[in-house]
Amino acid sequence: MEHKDRPSFESQAKLFIYLTAAIAALAGLLFGYDTGVISGAILFIKDQFALGSRAIQNVVSAVLLGAVIGAALSGALADHFGRRKVIIVTAILFAIGAIGAAFASNVPAIIAFRLMIGVAIGVASYTAPLYISEISPPQARGALVSLNQLMITCGIVVSYLVDYALSAGQNDWRWMFGLGAIPAIILVIGMIALSESPRWLVSKNRDEEARKVLAHVLPGQDIDKEITTIRGSLTVKEGSWKELLEPWVRPALIVGIALAFFQQFTGINTIIYYAPTIFEFAGFESHKVSILATVGVGVVNVLMTLVAIWFLDRLGRKPLLYIGMAGMTISLGILGFAFNSPELASSLKLVTVLSVVAYIASFAISLGPIFWLIIAEIYPLKIRGRAMSLATVANWGCNMVVAATFLTLTDKLGKAGAFWFYGAVCLAGIAFCYFYVPETKGHTLENIETYLRSGKRFGKLGGEEAAK
Ligand code: BGC
Repeated sequence: MEHKDRPSFESQAKLFIYLTAAIAALAGLLFGYDTGVISGAILFIKDQFALGSRAIQNVVSAVLLGAVIGAALSGALADHFGRRKVIIVTAILFAIGAIGAAFASNVPAIIAFRLMIGVAIGVASYTAPLYISEISPPQARGALVSLNQLMITCGIVVSYLVDYALSAGQNDWRWMFGLGAIPAIILVIGMIALSESPRWLVSKNRDEEARKVLAHVLPGQDIDKEITTIRGSLTVKEGSWKELLEPWVRPALIVGIALAFFQQFTGINTIIYYAPTIFEFAGFESHKVSILATVGVGVVNVLMTLVAIWFLDRLGRKPLLYIGMAGMTISLGILGFAFNSPELASSLKLVTVLSVVAYIASFAISLGPIFWLIIAEIYPLKIRGRAMSLATVANWGCNMVVAATFLTLTDKLGKAGAFWFYGAVCLAGIAFCYFYVPETKGHTLENIETYLRSGKRFGKLGGEEAAK
């Protein structure tokens, strides 16, 4: 519920919120860093341990299996132990995983520590934004949802830069993994200094502590009234898993899971995790140059995410989905075509780099931020937690399947076939968005819920119907 009559929060409160958001956003940075770092590290691990396609895939996807497990557990853990404690333990796991992977003497040990990091990522990808949203005043909440995606892309770039700086020696992959411990340790210390979410405190009848936190966040406002409002929203009893399947909720459920599928099955992480490998397919000979080209891809990802944040509330979600997914389909088509045309051999490198850049730019203005945004918008309050964690699990599950099958797919269908397959999925995704995805721009969350309850076709909800 928005409280438009409230004065903008004062500077001391602003500092508190920004500090809180910056520290919690380190979890997003770690998500990006620890998923991106593998792209460079895998080149060296592959050489050092003489790995084949299957073993490479296992090393790359260990983190993702962990993330599925972490995302599935996250709702229950965050409700039972509190958001802050869960993030602290998660950050400790990040640090242990990073150091463990750095010192691993064999492939099973690398896989085990990367699995541990994965559990941390899965928990963090749900709990950190939840914590930020619960501690933020309403007028700052929307921007912070997309800040999470921005931090993920920044983490990916940092990992690429580290990969680039360290791509000289055979054993440098150890440093690539190990450096992830630094933001993790800062996150532990930072979260120890921060307060628990006031909403969670009230839910555990710890009103006095909640009062103290709220006094920081909402200075000069009626804290008793705020606590009563939180209590009021808590009496909306959380829905059961069964309610998630009620017919009127189904369209929203399908949109969340389908967008998770399309975000992953259009191949984004084959680029994020394997970009240097793809550049080597295209004829780049040195690991260093391939990783440098990958840094460029990461920077474009960050910049275009900023562009998306600017346009999301102006143009709307659906136009950005159409533009971005059309761009993704075309660039995947060209990428496949380039790999399929021997006569292009001399220009293959250039065409590959250009189409990968066009692809990532298109993703960053569409499916990248919009998946995470829409799953925070479309679910009825009563089942929001469960539905969001289900969509998060679906996202990590699809991510894992794509990462675990990419190299096999290129072996079976050829490189061109693999990219065309992702392009065809993307084309189907555009049609799905047209028919089923609602335009949430300008609507209040209550508005979206009322529309969903009305039983009208969800995909017909248009931005022009937005509450004035
Ligand atoms: C996706 C990740 C992806 C990242 C790339 C996120 O929205 O969930 O799977 O690696 O974007 O920027």
